[in-house]
Amino acid sequence: MITSVVPADPPRPAQAVEAPAVRPADGVLPEERAAAAAPDALWWRDAVIYQVYVRSFQDSDGDGIGDLPGVRARLPYLKRLGVDGVWLNPFYPSPQHDHGYDVADYKGVDPMFGTLEDFDLLVEDCRKLGLRLVLDTVPNHCSAEHPWFLEALAAAPGSASRARFHFADGRGPDGGLPPNNWRAMFGGPAWSRITEPDGAPGQWYLHMFTPEQPDLNWRNPEVPVEFEKVLRFWLDRGVDGFRIDVAAGLFKHPELPDSPDPEADERTRDSVNPLAWNQPEVHEVWRSWRAICEEYTALDGRQRLLVGEASVPTPAEQAMYVRGDELHQAFFFHLLHAPWDSEHFHQVIDAAVRDITATGSTVTWVLNNHDQVRTTTRFGSPERARAAALLMLSLPGAAYLYQGEELGLPEVDDLPDEVITDPIFHRTGNRKGIRDGCRVPLPWAGARAPYGFSPEGSAPSWLPQPASFAGHTAERAVADHASPYHLYREALHLRRLLPQLGEGTLRWIETPPNVLAFTRGDGLLVATNFGTVAAPAPVTGQPLLSSGPCPAAGVLPPATTAWWILPRR
Ligand code: NOJ
Repeated sequence: MITSVVPADPPRPAQAVEAPAVRPADGVLPEERAAAAAPDALWWRDAVIYQVYVRSFQDSDGDGIGDLPGVRARLPYLKRLGVDGVWLNPFYPSPQHDHGYDVADYKGVDPMFGTLEDFDLLVEDCRKLGLRLVLDTVPNHCSAEHPWFLEALAAAPGSASRARFHFADGRGPDGGLPPNNWRAMFGGPAWSRITEPDGAPGQWYLHMFTPEQPDLNWRNPEVPVEFEKVLRFWLDRGVDGFRIDVAAGLFKHPELPDSPDPEADERTRDSVNPLAWNQPEVHEVWRSWRAICEEYTALDGRQRLLVGEASVPTPAEQAMYVRGDELHQAFFFHLLHAPWDSEHFHQVIDAAVRDITATGSTVTWVLNNHDQVRTTTRFGSPERARAAALLMLSLPGAAYLYQGEELGLPEVDDLPDEVITDPIFHRTGNRKGIRDGCRVPLPWAGARAPYGFSPEGSAPSWLPQPASFAGHTAERAVADHASPYHLYREALHLRRLLPQLGEGTLRWIETPPNVLAFTRGDGLLVATNFGTVAAPAPVTGQPLLSSGPCPAAGVLPPATTAWWILPRR
């Protein structure tokens, strides 16, 4: 395979805190003292964060829905697995039309998930265990039941309350057509018409997802002010950062003109409408959020993390979001969308490392999340999923794991239509790509549903767990040293031990077709065989770690990744 070399040793980011002009009498700046007390200040650059989809993780009160006390109870499991932190999907009060991505109150906990007190206890436990806690925040849109939206519905056209959203008159003689041709990401037009308080057919409002998720108008100064309060509310409670939903959204073209190709906008789940996404003004918001985080860092030396879900077409465009004074990280989704193909993996890894590290940030790798078909199913076999995971965990930068991938969970792709809750399914009638299949509650233990997800005798879990989950419980995985759980655990352990892993250089080496291989730093070699037959390994000798059995030295079995330590030169 033709190889390329990615740049070595990316520059470190600018210091988080600006030095004041005059040093104090003892010569030590407060932030220097804080950084010395917290040597892992840049922890996020190569952290491995575990995504907890709260409603499917652990149910503590028997209603069949996971909750915050459930998360607390399982923190020791996550600690033993070896992750650096936890990202919680939204648990805020919400009518749950999009499972919490329709927030009705940004500063609370939905009773379904617990209380603010439960949340505070979770923060405390994370702190004790040395786990970082990252929350989801949803600034592009709120719930149609958010007080602001209810107020806007009751107010008149042109009022200050409506100006917090995108309300507009319709087109056509009676205003019966949407103000423009934009399509919503989850199907149908991006506009819905309201009935005015006097009962007359009224204005339209913009929603880039479902009608229950009205888009906020970020050109209205009240909106950024309110979100600053939201960030501070959770930062004051001790969180380590935020995952930002739809981070390439927020601003729309000020004139709201027609999209040049609405069919293309509808065909893909990537944000392609150039008038609705990726507007230049959004970067100012990330700069201001970064400044808020830095304020907190200046107090205690702990860096707060901003990780964006910025779905933009190219790695180069994504790099714009992680410039030194903007987000720390942005999920690199090109690997998540890659087919099981060595050339494709090679191209996206190469581009990511080149474009993202040039900004001074690190790449944020991800193979699974709550919106995607699980890798075991997507790549076609558990072996491939394991090989992809071990490959990802060897790449320079940070990585996000999605709950259950360490158990080798397959996608549940035979859920009956009547249990499906994903609004995409209901708005498009399209089974392909629906998201419930990766959100089925986790199997923890036992041979029958609810597999320890809920206490015995509870209400049925919100999505039914298949009988096959009996073979994937955490209990079994922990007891079986050949399980994916132990592979992840060893890989995470080695990431802490070996200086070659985490940040640093990646250098491709020549390989036969269908094999990818590279060295990390000085002395670690990684190879993945994407093919269906065994390939010669790039080195002789037993690997340090491999995603499946490597029975013969010098041979790399199909659908296998292995790590070797190279002899010292
Ligand atoms: C991205 C989230 O990951 C997804 O679950 C959600 O439906 C959309 N943003 C809308 O908030």
